[in-house]
Amino acid sequence: MIQVRGLTKRYGEKVAVDNITFDVLPGRVTGFLGPNGSGKSTTMRAIIGLDRPDAGTVRVNGQSYHDLEAPLTKVGALLEARATHPGRSARNHLAFLAAASGIDRKRVDEVLGLVGLSDVADKRANNFSLGMGQRLGIAGALLGDAPTVLFDEPVNGLDPEGIIWVRNLLKGLAQEGRTVLISSHLMAEMALTADHLIVIGRGRLIADSSVEEFVSTASTDDVLVRARVSTDLRTALIANGALVTDEPDGALVVRRMGVEEVGRLAADTRTVLHELTPRRASLEEAFMELTKDSLEYTAQVAS
Ligand SMILES: Nc1ncnc2c1ncn2[C@@H]1O[C@H](COP(=O)(O)OP(=O)(O)O)[C@@H](O)[C@H]1O
Ligand SMILES: [Mg+2]
Repeated sequence: MIQVRGLTKRYGEKVAVDNITFDVLPGRVTGFLGPNGSGKSTTMRAIIGLDRPDAGTVRVNGQSYHDLEAPLTKVGALLEARATHPGRSARNHLAFLAAASGIDRKRVDEVLGLVGLSDVADKRANNFSLGMGQRLGIAGALLGDAPTVLFDEPVNGLDPEGIIWVRNLLKGLAQEGRTVLISSHLMAEMALTADHLIVIGRGRLIADSSVEEFVSTASTDDVLVRARVSTDLRTALIANGALVTDEPDGALVVRRMGVEEVGRLAADTRTVLHELTPRRASLEEAFMELTKDSLEYTAQVAS
């Protein structure tokens, strides 16, 4: 279990993380979602003690990272930047980490197998593709067989097969009862991978909820209507408080009104319907809705 309480981190004038509080519970995959520059990596660095917070506390199973003995066996982490020694082979890199944490050398070959790098274990890691580098980073996070694992943007650079592999790996780790936190700016991937979401924008907490709740909170659900002639229906919808937009193909998209009432107004106006479809907001739309005020200006993102 990870407990973040009032975490604040500044870089000079810039507030990267602004007083955020959340828990990451064991037994499920928690997605840490936010646009680029929203403070995900900073938060994760604070959780594993690489960044010193300006305010607030972080506890992993009740302890701060600095108080953990053999931290690699308590918290495994893949951070965004690749932290391998360029000249080392994958096996040597992991053996070095294992030795530093008193982890049995046998575990190195086990994790190389787990991430599918056994065949290239003795090749220099600086010749690795981005995807292979990510697999090596994941191997490092798994090395200590820790009950808590963090992955910062682990699917970056992975091919579709690799993305499915990471997804199944994370679900498996959660099913074993581990605490699993994965950050991403990719909504669609989060929808498939996470059970629970922590959403941030501009360093502030925007949502702490299940994927399902998050989508319904954003309430951008709408109703798609196709009719033989829609003029009267359109007028009735607007008169009854709906927002109506026209699709290029003549269909209407109705907001702020449920499908039953749209159907009733269609009957009232003797409109022949060809289609009446309630549409659920996708995670992507929910995210855009909730974070639209917190997207950084492009110039700031580039900094
Ligand atoms: N070492 C640093 N020095 C100065 N600013 C930083 C540093 N690390 C991050 N930032 C800034 O803090 C904000 C949050 O960054 P980050 O945590 O990397 O966001 P994310 O991982 O969500 O993309 C950004 O505006 C970023 O530019
Ligand atoms: Mg990041």
